[in-house]
Amino acid sequence: MQTPRKYALPLLLLVITGLLIWWYNRTHPYTAPLPGAAEYGFQLISKTAEQYGPGGRINIRSNGMNCSHCHLDAGKNLQAIPLTRVYLQYPKYRDRSGSHESLYKRIKDCFERSLQSMAPDSNSREIQAITAYLKWLSENAPADSITRDPLPYLARAADSTNGSRLYAATCKRCHGQNGEGFREADHSSFRYPPLWGLNSYSTGAGMYQVTKLARFIKFNMPFDKPAGSLLLTDEEAYDLAAYINSQKRQTFDISHDWPVMSTKPVDYPFGPFADSFSADRHKYGPWLNLK
Ligand code: HEC
Ligand code: HEC
Repeated sequence: MQTPRKYALPLLLLVITGLLIWWYNRTHPYTAPLPGAAEYGFQLISKTAEQYGPGGRINIRSNGMNCSHCHLDAGKNLQAIPLTRVYLQYPKYRDRSGSHESLYKRIKDCFERSLQSMAPDSNSREIQAITAYLKWLSENAPADSITRDPLPYLARAADSTNGSRLYAATCKRCHGQNGEGFREADHSSFRYPPLWGLNSYSTGAGMYQVTKLARFIKFNMPFDKPAGSLLLTDEEAYDLAAYINSQKRQTFDISHDWPVMSTKPVDYPFGPFADSFSADRHKYGPWLNLK
């Protein structure tokens, strides 16, 4: 069947317009409008405590943190645990659980381990909204939105005593003398999130690994540093991370994590280990030649 001639030009214009919009969205990240469900997902990630928090509408069981306290700019910040590609990367096999994990399972993990909360059901409106938002992110992120490399290991152990000094000089003014953070006036959420203590992430969270925390700190803190600049050296970031993760926090049952011992990350602080090095050596390094 032949398309009547009179439709040819409008059809061509339609295709060209479509291509132009597609090209514009690819080269101008995040300009495409958020679909309705994704909008709620964005709210849940950036203002989690409104729904899951001490004053939360859905569940008051939570430490009061927002997902975006760690996944900065609601997962768009490429230096701060970006969520730009997770929608495309799951389901995948993860050594921590020793199983194929769905995206839901991964989101649930952060609810439980980082927020000390309970994840909503997999078929809830909330999980559907978060998933819709992560899908939108994956479709609208800049092309090079890969997770950045970890910091190189230091030749020495991370030094929490030096970290304590640096903390007092650089971080205390926002995160507080005892790492307790600073709440908004109505107490419903944190303006400056806690770094240790009962309201911080648990010992089962990714941030509890010194190398992951150090990388986050190096590239993102202090929060008011001039955009694009880095004020801390690798050494300073590691020492700060050692100090923060040497403080008390909520314990999490990690007895089923890393079922294959040899797959534990080098800085994983809980034994048993496949080698004979101590838990302290694993936690603080030096990590060179450890694996
Ligand atoms: C205390 C900090 C913190 C908070 C709060 C937090 N996360 Fe995470 N999240 C992490 C860390 C650390 C990782 C692991 C990154 C890695 O493996 O390198 C992670 C990983 C993830 C991943 C998988 C990323 C990947 O690349 O595989 C998803 C999805 C995720 N978080 C969603 C959430 C959601 C949704 C919330 C809120 C309910 C949340 N996170 C709250 C720190 C946090
Ligand atoms: C000007 C205030 C300010 C200073 C100074 C500051 N931070 Fe933060 N920090 C923040 C804010 C605000 C967030 C959450 C960012 C967001 O929600 O977008 C944050 C988030 C964090 C997080 C992730 C969330 C959590 O609570 O686990 C860590 C870790 C952190 N900061 C460590 C540090 C360290 C270490 C220093 C010192 C080198 C520091 N910060 C200095 C304001 C500050």
